[in-house]
Amino acid sequence: MKLKDTYPLYLNNKAAQPNSDLEVTDKFTGEVAFRTALATPDIIEEAIAGTVRAAGPMARLASYERRDVLLHCVGRFRERFDELAYALCVEAGKPIGDSEGEVGRLIDTFSIAAEEATRNYGEVQPLDISPRAKGYMGIWKRVPIGPCSFISPFNFPLNLAAHKIAPAIAAGCPFVMKPASLTPLGAIIMGEVLAECDILPEGAFSILPAHREGADMFTTDERFKLLSFTGSPAVGWPLKAKAGTKKVVLELGGNAAVIVDKDADLDHALERIVFGAFYQSGQSCIGVQRVLIHDSIYDRFKDMLVSKTKTLVAGDPHDRNTFIGPMISEKEAQRLKGWIDAAVEAGATLLCGGKLEGAMLEATLLENVPKFCDANKEEAFGPLANLMRFSEWDEALDQVNDSRFGLQAGIFTRDIHKVLEAWDRLEVGGVIVNDVSSYRVDNMPYGGVKDSGLGREGIRFSIEDMTEIRNLVIRRV
Ligand code: SIN
Repeated sequence: MKLKDTYPLYLNNKAAQPNSDLEVTDKFTGEVAFRTALATPDIIEEAIAGTVRAAGPMARLASYERRDVLLHCVGRFRERFDELAYALCVEAGKPIGDSEGEVGRLIDTFSIAAEEATRNYGEVQPLDISPRAKGYMGIWKRVPIGPCSFISPFNFPLNLAAHKIAPAIAAGCPFVMKPASLTPLGAIIMGEVLAECDILPEGAFSILPAHREGADMFTTDERFKLLSFTGSPAVGWPLKAKAGTKKVVLELGGNAAVIVDKDADLDHALERIVFGAFYQSGQSCIGVQRVLIHDSIYDRFKDMLVSKTKTLVAGDPHDRNTFIGPMISEKEAQRLKGWIDAAVEAGATLLCGGKLEGAMLEATLLENVPKFCDANKEEAFGPLANLMRFSEWDEALDQVNDSRFGLQAGIFTRDIHKVLEAWDRLEVGGVIVNDVSSYRVDNMPYGGVKDSGLGREGIRFSIEDMTEIRNLVIRRV
């Protein structure tokens, strides 16, 4: 398979090639893989004006028309499955198996949105709750919020862009998307597929690779009614501060934890934790970073984790045997290597891994990481997990909560009382029982508390954000 040398941007539903200024590298070889057009402020302005013109016509599309656009995308993504996976493998350095997994999820996400497009229900509400309201009734429905601004990250270039694009179409909202400059191709191919849908009014969508410095309008422009951002907390929260009166949804990061209790099925927990910590080199917001293990099984489970981690094959992401590919850049890999070294200097023990070559960082396990170390308290976003001990369930829950983040947590236990206790007490957006924090199905509510973000994705929940309730009150005369 071969990628093209140059790709366009999509402005008001059409391909445009004003330049080829964005160089995108193959993350494994470091060589330029292709170029794309880069949006200038003029182009971003044209796109925003387009969304304003398209807002009315988009809102008037029938449910079946929005559904059919989404089904068209599902069909085309199936036809282009191998190409999409290959593009992802090149531009993100994501091992081919994980890349194919992501294309599968892209198809799921659009399929779910196609179903939700025809389920925009409202409610009839009796208002006659007191004598003054006798003879009144209410009906509410949801109407599209209007133009949306989307900023998507590098780690799931297809599916996290899809979590914004697909619900916007289902809800009837026009949008402008800025994909990550490191991995713009997935979203550009989605633009190519959407451009085949003549039913979409002009201005329904623009997909604009842009440098962060030139992209302030995505955040500040008041014509947007919603900003949905997925990325790091360091970027996300300042965006909210600049977003003015628009609604803001932030899907940010975390230092997710899993708890392995003494009654857990250790073979199962082992498989899942090694996967959850290290798949796609740990570059997931819900990747396992902290592993809390009951005292009574700590030594045994630690040995199991270390042996299994050492077997992970690192190398070329195109090779089907590869489990660990490159991180997104050498700079990011050096940043995390620095955190690992600093933790060891502060007293942590390196159990395995820790070596760096270019952007390839070994799968690394640490124990006894002091609390104040970045490796513990900040988001690693790379192939690192820290082992910790606990003796009481309550203490383990406190340790999970001892973080400024709260996205998802995994718990391995057979005790339903402990499950319910965790569900009550853990300060996170989701608790996953007998699986890892990294587990996600694309129709579930997904998002965080504390510094991990605001709002929930998961199609239905995004559609709620992308629509507003409009009430109708009727008096019987
Ligand atoms: C994320 O990294 O934010 C999303 C993880 C996922 O969708 O699996």
